[in-house]
Amino acid sequence: MTQASSKQQRDILVTSALPYANGPIHLGHLLEYIQTDIWVRYQKMRGQNCYYVCADDAHGTAIMLRAEREGISSESLIDRIRDEHQQDFGGFHIRFDNYYTTHSEENRQFSEYIYRQLQENGHIATRKITQAFDPEKNMFLADRFIKGTCPKCKTEDQYGDNCEACGATYTPAELINPRSAVSGATPVDKESEHYFFRLPEFADFLANWTRSGTLQPQVANKLAEWLDAGLQEWDISRDAPYFGFEIPDAPGKYFYVWLDAPIGYLASFKNLCNREGIDFEHFWKADSTAEVYHFIGKDIINFHALFWPSMLHSAGFRTPSAVWAHGFVTVNGKKMSKSRGTFIMARTYLDHLDPEYLRYYFAAKLTGSVDDMDLNLEDFAARVNSDLVGKVVNIASRSAGFITKRFDGQLGTVTEHEKLKEFIEAGDEIADFFEAREFGRAMRRIMELADIANQYVNDEQPWVIAKQDGQDDNLQAICTNAINMFHLLMTYLAPVLPETAKASEAFLNASLDWNKREQRLENHGINKFKPLMNRVDMAQIEKMLDASKEEMPAATGQKAPEANHEPIADEIEFGDFAKVDLRVVKIVKAEHVDGADKLLRLTLDVGEGERNVFAGIKSAYKPEDLEGRLTVMVANLKPRKMKFGMSEGMVLAAGPGGKDIFILSPDSGATPGMRIM
Ligand code: MSP
Ligand code: ZN
Repeated sequence: MTQASSKQQRDILVTSALPYANGPIHLGHLLEYIQTDIWVRYQKMRGQNCYYVCADDAHGTAIMLRAEREGISSESLIDRIRDEHQQDFGGFHIRFDNYYTTHSEENRQFSEYIYRQLQENGHIATRKITQAFDPEKNMFLADRFIKGTCPKCKTEDQYGDNCEACGATYTPAELINPRSAVSGATPVDKESEHYFFRLPEFADFLANWTRSGTLQPQVANKLAEWLDAGLQEWDISRDAPYFGFEIPDAPGKYFYVWLDAPIGYLASFKNLCNREGIDFEHFWKADSTAEVYHFIGKDIINFHALFWPSMLHSAGFRTPSAVWAHGFVTVNGKKMSKSRGTFIMARTYLDHLDPEYLRYYFAAKLTGSVDDMDLNLEDFAARVNSDLVGKVVNIASRSAGFITKRFDGQLGTVTEHEKLKEFIEAGDEIADFFEAREFGRAMRRIMELADIANQYVNDEQPWVIAKQDGQDDNLQAICTNAINMFHLLMTYLAPVLPETAKASEAFLNASLDWNKREQRLENHGINKFKPLMNRVDMAQIEKMLDASKEEMPAATGQKAPEANHEPIADEIEFGDFAKVDLRVVKIVKAEHVDGADKLLRLTLDVGEGERNVFAGIKSAYKPEDLEGRLTVMVANLKPRKMKFGMSEGMVLAAGPGGKDIFILSPDSGATPGMRIM
């Protein structure tokens, strides 16, 4: 690196939101991590001193209750989920410099420190509030842990804040017949002291901060509305039992998960600094010249653009250079849905498709705005096939063979100087698009160049020239020009397609270096071309959707909002129904499945032998409680190969999900093999 460029090197810290440690990574999450990873890879490629940190968001009631349900400690639950998250991210080539957890010593220290600063500055208030309390579990209940009958439309079993049937919003106190979703007990009102962050005192600071170029215009406008409407104090404490950090000098009171979650950005970075000797202060002191960017989804803007900068400001840290929000992923035009199979987990995708397809598709559709993004699966296949396979990879595959066969792998010299100049100069424009998170525009510009390259090969017809005598130099030059164009295209695509970039470097026997892109590959040996990417096949996509459906709604252990409101399917003939062979079976063995969060493996006695069946009922049943019980299965379902083995039928169960899944139990006079239908 030259003296001049090292002086201009930027120090940049980048984060993505910290995923909750109570569920798997899905394609919606991945939009964010892929967006951030592309931006970071771009910055690193340009030689910036850029760090990308993240962590699991490990605290809160949901995680505590899930661990309880699984009969394990919260600590071992969050360790397991963090492992899974890291594998999922790794599978999509998301390259963090550090992936930590909010349940760390660093985070405890920063949380306590910041809290004490806020307190010293008079920004913490305490007062008593009345809240719903579960007298059986001895715990306060947040709205979503209270269920009851909707006061408007009288639909039963609705959450405490809104009705999924009629859309009404209300307070839990208005629910008819309210019950604790944790124990089923009737909640009572109880008073308790809470700690509040005095956000209204930051109104002027925030009015400035949100208007200082730190936010996208759409977001800044939204915040201006909130600021005009007036800010409320923010409740930052929760009573025991709670999985989190205890508030200093306040026994039995814990920091609300959203208080220590963003502090987790500091803690993860600090952990990295300690490991690698990076100067933490330089990045976070109040007058820091380093840049700090948070990539987030639009649902968590208030936490990042109101509470977080105010906390940092009060505690004497610098505030973020910018907070960049993206929109939400829909699949085929609709909200991701478990029943349609479009609630696609990272793992399920990876079992069927190449991660770079999704990285490219997201890149091709991303802008710097907060607009939602539709993942249309047909468009996805078409776009990947036509752009990456049909255009980019094609350039190399059309020219490499001649170089290998006819010129012993040696490139000649470039003759298309003007065209190559255009390719090199376009790099500045593409760079600006990457910097501004206008990845879609970057991809379009790259594909325009790919079109030029393909047109060039079409016009020159090397396959015709190859058959003519005395045209060797010409043939070698055409292929050399084309390979140089490919080299530049892959350089620009490298932040999006890291694996294909690596394979291209191996093929070209040269690095993809953006900052040295005017260097040509001339009189240079390349390696034999191997296909760099395969076409997407709709059949693989169908398989992925089927596999996503198999992860039943109940199976994720999360709230399955659509389960109760699924429209009734098209009518079937009695004959269709009669084909279903329902049998009483005895569960002779029930076991955990290594690596599956939802499934149990059941060995079923069907009267005439045994069957192996996977059932998504782990959140509701302990294996030992199932053994010896009778249930009902579809005995003539075609065996299906699942990730963990063959499933030879299906057991019948009902219920909203989580711990409320009930396998059907025939009366005790039944015997295995007895036909029900
Ligand atoms: N734990 C909080 C973030 C704390 S940051 C200090 C959280 N976790 S999350 O797992 O629910 O979401 C993580 C990120 O993924 C968020 O930025 C969220 O907006 C994003 N997405 C979750 N589902 C999404 C889609 N369907 N589409 C796009 N992004 C989505 O929020
Ligand atoms: Zn209702």
